[in-house]
Amino acid sequence: MGLIKPTLSYDDLRDADLIVEAVFETMEIKKKVFGQLDKVAKKGAVLASNTSYLSIDEIAKATSRPGDVVGTHFFSPANVMKLCEVVRGAATAPDTLVTTLDTAKRIGKVGVVAGNRDGFIGNRMLSGYAHQAQLLVLEGATPQQVDKALYDFGMPMGMFQMGDLAGLDVGYKSRKGRDPSTFDVRASKPADKLVEMGRLGQKTNAGYYNYAPGERAPKPSAVTQQVIEEVAREYQIRRREVTDQEIIERCFLAMVNIGCEVLREKIAYRSGDIDIVWLYGYGFPAYRGGPMFWAENEVGLPKALAKIKEFSTLTGERWLKPSPLLGQLVAEKKGFASIG
Ligand SMILES: NC(=O)c1ccc[n+]([C@@H]2O[C@H](COP(=O)([O-])OP(=O)(O)OC[C@H]3O[C@@H](n4cnc5c(N)ncnc54)[C@H](O)[C@@H]3O)[C@@H](O)[C@H]2O)c1
Repeated sequence: MGLIKPTLSYDDLRDADLIVEAVFETMEIKKKVFGQLDKVAKKGAVLASNTSYLSIDEIAKATSRPGDVVGTHFFSPANVMKLCEVVRGAATAPDTLVTTLDTAKRIGKVGVVAGNRDGFIGNRMLSGYAHQAQLLVLEGATPQQVDKALYDFGMPMGMFQMGDLAGLDVGYKSRKGRDPSTFDVRASKPADKLVEMGRLGQKTNAGYYNYAPGERAPKPSAVTQQVIEEVAREYQIRRREVTDQEIIERCFLAMVNIGCEVLREKIAYRSGDIDIVWLYGYGFPAYRGGPMFWAENEVGLPKALAKIKEFSTLTGERWLKPSPLLGQLVAEKKGFASIG
């Protein structure tokens, strides 16, 4: 902390070799800030954005030096989590990319190069994982059952606990700014209702779970259960018993399926990079090697594809389309190592 010199003046950034922007996640504000950085930063300085979802190409356009613009997506809490997704824009120059990767290493982080696409590698896959967890509770599981199954698999915490920790209002706000035809409104409806009731997560002592003031231990909530059942009725979702095995397979295979799309679109260079993202950014259990390694070696790609097809029919093909790359690998009896 002693090395930090706070300032409110852009002029103080004149001598910086690397500038990391971390303002609100709004394109308009990011562009304004990069326009100002362009005016003051010295020639050759790396201009980085910590954006979680926004286009680096669009941000770079606000400057006269798009080759110097790159994404440095750190993970929360940034002083603890070792991952830094280094987002390579269409115009990012090779020296900008290697300097950023080198800097990540020098500050004790693990840098992974990601292409410029909504949510990059990690958060894009997280959305598929979260989607299944949210549907599973509408189909009959409880948040505590889903969280326990994910925790027992080896994740540091379940999806709903993670939502409460991050604050349910974060996703709520981002959904309000998005076209509702682009996401499954059924799945996020319970979270929307909880936010509208003032249940924002740990910060309000209530979210999916209840929390005693000042404590972080989640307690099941009857209010949440009622909200989930109301939404299931509203969308005529038949409630049934859900097994822990189904929870694991649906959440992680949906994630892996997006991982295959990430590879197909060359957003990640290789499946090992995706695994590194999950190990260092989200606490995926290291002894399972990462989601792609798990799918290939513990589940097996043919079985993974068959299950994804089954879940696609079950949860709506629009939301879970089997990746053509996975189909191709299975047909050709190849593994992820054949890509890249
Ligand atoms: N919170 C996380 O877990 C997390 C993780 C990874 C990446 N990010 C990304 O980091 C960025 C910041 O997120 P956050 O959670 O810290 O947000 P935040 O809202 O907590 O903080 C943003 C800060 O930016 C300041 N700000 C807003 N407009 C500004 C401007 N024009 N000039 C200077 N400062 C300005 C605000 O005063 C505020 O202090 C976002 O792009 C977000 O996507 C956040």
